[in-house]
Amino acid sequence: MVKKKTCIFISGKGSNLKNLILHSRKDNFPINISLVISNNKNASGISFAKKNKIPYVFIDTKIKHYENKILLNLNKYKISFICLAGYMKIISSTLLRYYRKKIINIHPSLLPKFKGLNTFSRILKNKEIKTGCTVHYVNEKLDSGNIIVQKSFFINAKDNEHVLKNKTQKLEHLAFPEAIIKIFRNN
Ligand code: GRF
Repeated sequence: MVKKKTCIFISGKGSNLKNLILHSRKDNFPINISLVISNNKNASGISFAKKNKIPYVFIDTKIKHYENKILLNLNKYKISFICLAGYMKIISSTLLRYYRKKIINIHPSLLPKFKGLNTFSRILKNKEIKTGCTVHYVNEKLDSGNIIVQKSFFINAKDNEHVLKNKTQKLEHLAFPEAIIKIFRNN
């Protein structure tokens, strides 16, 4: 199997990055993680790239035309697939022009419910019965592309934001690899 050269975009902790690195080591997993891009110099997730000798780049998303810099790096490492794993920046048409249907994102809610930030507090405030996570394709609209995989659980009356986050992340670590397998099985 020729594995797709993949770049993971992060901004923070990188637990999804860590999980995808583990999966990518399996012979039959369809992607190889060839590059990590972070827009946060201090993202603790960078340590997983370092530990696993995966090239990583810091991109300052506050500068003009930063997406051109991203494109240069994607080109340099011959990247054909992108996973957004806690990347706190909207992908613009500059990247989508070259990577349409090649970028996926993981979001901590059952989309189309609770797009955007602060999902857990809004979920609790809304007295939802169920929540979960969604892996979806990225398009120009925030958290709105076609859904690939969704996983859910029932909310317990005692669950606070912290508990919801932990339960959701456990499901994310199942959903992200499952979505990647699903995409390339259909290709
Ligand atoms: C995840 O909860 C994901 O749903 C959201 O950002 C978080 C990233 O977590 N988009 P981590 O950095 O992978 O631990």
